[in-house]
Amino acid sequence: MLITFEGIDGSGKSTQARLLVEHLRSEGHATMLVREPGGTTLSERIRTLLLDPALDIDPFAELLLFSAARAQLVTEKIRPALGAGDIVVCDRFYDSTTAYQGAGRQLEAPDWLRAFHAKVTGGLVPDRTYLVEVPPAVAQARREGASDGTTNEASAPDRMEAGGLDFYRRVAAAYATLAEEEPDRFVRLDGEHSIDALHATVQADVQALMAA
Ligand code: ADP
Ligand code: TYD
Repeated sequence: MLITFEGIDGSGKSTQARLLVEHLRSEGHATMLVREPGGTTLSERIRTLLLDPALDIDPFAELLLFSAARAQLVTEKIRPALGAGDIVVCDRFYDSTTAYQGAGRQLEAPDWLRAFHAKVTGGLVPDRTYLVEVPPAVAQARREGASDGTTNEASAPDRMEAGGLDFYRRVAAAYATLAEEEPDRFVRLDGEHSIDALHATVQADVQALMAA
């Protein structure tokens, strides 16, 4: 089973992905957690390039680099884990490319992008995708460490985070459209709910999914 988490930076999706993996492992399920871009030596190196604020990267080149990182991750890690019967939890997957490159960078995102993702992943489609939705300003405050004024570590924005609020508004709107287009795959979560409440919702949904 492949489960993915999506949302804008600072939405809280990595927190939820980690909590779900801890829960599944505590229940005895072999579970792999990977993040995108990353998860393999090549993909982590591509990640370093993609997030480097010193680099000026053409939007189409950016799309290809994210996709190259994904192709390697699918072949090297995700397919073998799924083949072994493990649960794979992925912090971002191809919906990120549709939202960030397609809408955020304002590349055209018509059918070719959908077909392209299928090519990159060999047709792999998540069994469930959790979309954690928060207003872009809330996510920005969390990224800047202002959500509760205590626990967040603030760091300099990476190259993607330098996009600004309008960029994130386009990304968030694209995610909402994706969720409307595939209601059976997507579960939308209100990211302003508490971490524990969100985790309980995810946990119950995954349990139902595994029982089905
Ligand atoms: P993302 O992976 O979407 O960038 P993170 O999971 O890293 O987001 O969370 C970003 C910050 O917001 C972290 O400091 C985290 O503790 C905090 N956070 C996560 N979920 C919530 C929530 N539901 N409510 C308030 N703060 C949250
Ligand atoms: P990361 O630090 O992992 O952000 P987050 O914790 O929010 O997931 O950085 C990944 C960045 O790359 C993030 O800004 C989203 C962006 N991204 C894309 O633009 N396209 C993609 O296909 C993927 C996977 C990520």
